[in-house]
Amino acid sequence: MDPKPKGWRLVKIEGVPLAELTAKNWNQIKDFQARPDDVLICTFPKAGTAWIQEIVEMILHGGDSQKCDQLPIYQRSPFLDLFLPKPYLAGVKEAEEMPSPRILKTHLSAKLLPPSFWKQNCKIIYLARNIKDSAVSSFCFHQMTHLLPSPGDWNDFLENYIAGECTYGSWFDHVCGWWEAKDHYPILYLFYEDLKENPAQEIGKVARFLGVELPESVLSQIVQHTAFKSMKVNPMTNFSTLPSSILDHTVSSYMRKGTVGDWKEHLTVAQSERIDDICAQKLRDSGLIFRTQL
Ligand code: A3P
Repeated sequence: MDPKPKGWRLVKIEGVPLAELTAKNWNQIKDFQARPDDVLICTFPKAGTAWIQEIVEMILHGGDSQKCDQLPIYQRSPFLDLFLPKPYLAGVKEAEEMPSPRILKTHLSAKLLPPSFWKQNCKIIYLARNIKDSAVSSFCFHQMTHLLPSPGDWNDFLENYIAGECTYGSWFDHVCGWWEAKDHYPILYLFYEDLKENPAQEIGKVARFLGVELPESVLSQIVQHTAFKSMKVNPMTNFSTLPSSILDHTVSSYMRKGTVGDWKEHLTVAQSERIDDICAQKLRDSGLIFRTQL
C-alpha cells in the first residue's frame, strides 16, 4: 500500500503548479513584507538550497560554526512558500516573527516573487543546477518525503519534469526568469557545478556580494564546514532532526550523493540526448550554459 498522501495535488498560480496548501495561502505569500536587509536564497528544488543556505549563514557569522550549529538549518532560514498542515508554522509566519537580519528561502520563480522583495531591493542569491542532476535528485526526494506524492515510474516522472508538470513548474522558465532578473536587481546568480568545482572561489563571490571580507583562514573553515561530507554528518544540516513522517531517511538521504553527473546512473542515452536538444532550443536566446559533468 502506498503510504503517501492521496489527496495531494498541484494547483496552478499564474500558470505555475504549486503545492495545494501553498496555492490556498497564496495571498499571504504575495503580501509578504520583505525588509531591506533581508537576504533571499532562491533555487529550483534540489539545486543545493541547503548548501548555499549554510554558506550564507557561515559567511554572515564570520565562519563561526558554533553559531550555525545552534539550530537545524530549516529553522534558521524560513522557507516562505512552505505551508505544512498544523501544528507546523507557515514559512511566512516564521519569517514575520524573526528579527532582522533575516536569511529567507524560496523556490518561487521570479515572476511569482512577492513584490516587496523588488521594492526593497533585497539582495538575492540564486543557485542553479543542471536539469539532469536536478531531475534525478527530485525523483529520489519524492521517494523519501511524505510531503510529496510517490514519484511513480522514473520515465513518466522525467517526462512530467521536462514538461514543467511538477512542483514549481518548468525548470527552464525558472532558471531563465531569474537569469533575466539579475540584469535589473541585486541578484548573484551561481551554478551548483561551479560551487562543486571551486568552492573557495564561489564562496568568495558570495562574501563580496554580501559585503563581507573573509580572511583566508575563515574562507577555508567555511569550505570545510559546508563540504558535502561535513554537511552529511552534521545533524544541523542533514535534516535528520525532522520526523520520519516528513522525511524518511531509511528510503534515501537528503544529503544523497552531492555530485555532478549522477544522472548518468539514471538517464538512458536517448533521454539524455533529448534533454540536450531541448536545452539547446530553450536556453539558446538566454545565453545560459549548464555543465552536466566536471
Ligand atoms: P543529490 O540528491 O544529487 O545528492 P536542496 O537542498 O535544494 O533540496 O538540494 C539537495 C541536493 O543538494 C542533493 O543532491 C544534496 O545531496 C545536494 N547537496 C546538499 N549539500 C551539499 C553540499 N554541501 N555539497 C554538494 N551537494 C550538496
